[in-house]
Amino acid sequence: MSRVMSTFFQPDLLTGKVAFVTGGGSGIGRAIVQRFLEHGADVVIASRNLARLEQAAAELSAATGRRCLAVQADVREPEQIEAAVDRALAELGRIDILVNNAAGNFLAPAAALSYKGFATVHAIDTLGTFNVSKAVFARWLQRNGGVIINISATLQYTGTPFQVHAGSAKAAVDAMTRHLAVEWGAARIRVNAIAPGPIDDTEGMKRLAPGDLKDKLARQIPLGRFGRADEIAQTALFLASDAASYVTGAIFVVDGGAWLTGQRLDM
Ligand code: HXC
Ligand code: NAP
Repeated sequence: MSRVMSTFFQPDLLTGKVAFVTGGGSGIGRAIVQRFLEHGADVVIASRNLARLEQAAAELSAATGRRCLAVQADVREPEQIEAAVDRALAELGRIDILVNNAAGNFLAPAAALSYKGFATVHAIDTLGTFNVSKAVFARWLQRNGGVIINISATLQYTGTPFQVHAGSAKAAVDAMTRHLAVEWGAARIRVNAIAPGPIDDTEGMKRLAPGDLKDKLARQIPLGRFGRADEIAQTALFLASDAASYVTGAIFVVDGGAWLTGQRLDM
């Protein structure tokens, strides 16, 4: 269930805006969607599992009174993404904010990772981010301006073990953030990324920090704990808003200082 929480920002911060959030039916994406809805936006959520998306959309709409539209699409498939963007525009009229949050990950030593396993994660994280950005740019952002927020990670800053697939994919997402910020600035499009550290109660952390690894990791984090999905959502809200009107090409690390002290997943 979703309950409305108190806010640090003006409640009408995103009034009149429409956001398109990939992977918005679960975890960090869902937390971002909730904050956007609470601040007056309408939101399209897109991913593969339509049943989960529809349930999330119904719960979030009921909690916030805003429109949340669920659309099935695989970010690896440009035609599905183009159709999803067309549907979003047909139903909600505009897309001011794109959040590229969809990703896939698992723990795997490089030597045991199959070629397809590596390619799959790159296809979702890196190609998916490009596919959706390009489709929304061509259909709306190019003529109207707007905001793109890519959800990255900090794995790639330190060479985290068992994460060559995800770390290299997110490094490409960071690079893409800077390239598109430069190319699309003239179209009044701001492109930024958020690099979350370990976030509690997420699929990502269930996969990457099982069992007592979580406690060991938490002890290494300067702020002494895992993050909360809402702490990523607050950063997304800032970046989506006019409060960040001169911020582009930036990668916001939101990790309690975690990457500074290392992140061994093979302890
Ligand atoms: C090794 C694996 C594997 C695993 C899949 N593969 N899981 N290899 N260990 N645990 C390999 C498969 O064997 C296969 O290769 C290839 O990957 C594709 O697998 P499929 O199951 O066919 O792929 P698909 O159905 O497309 O699913 C994609 C997926 C899946 C990424 C594998 O886990 C998924 O849908 N994930 C979405 C949810 C998710 O991952 N959330 C966490 C995001 S967190 P072969 O060669 O055998 O055919 C995150 C955290 C970042 O990104 C940073 C945190 C600090
Ligand atoms: P999650 O709940 O599993 O979110 C991933 C989302 O991506 C799911 O909603 C999934 O929905 C969607 N998705 C996966 N493959 C897709 C595809 N091919 N096409 C469309 N949608 C797809 O995991 P999370 O932990 O919240 O992660 C969210 C983001 O935060 C990811 O970018 C992740 O890399 C990043 N991140 C997370 C952490 C963490 O601690 N959790 C840390 C650093 C970075 P469907 O299954 O319906 O497709």
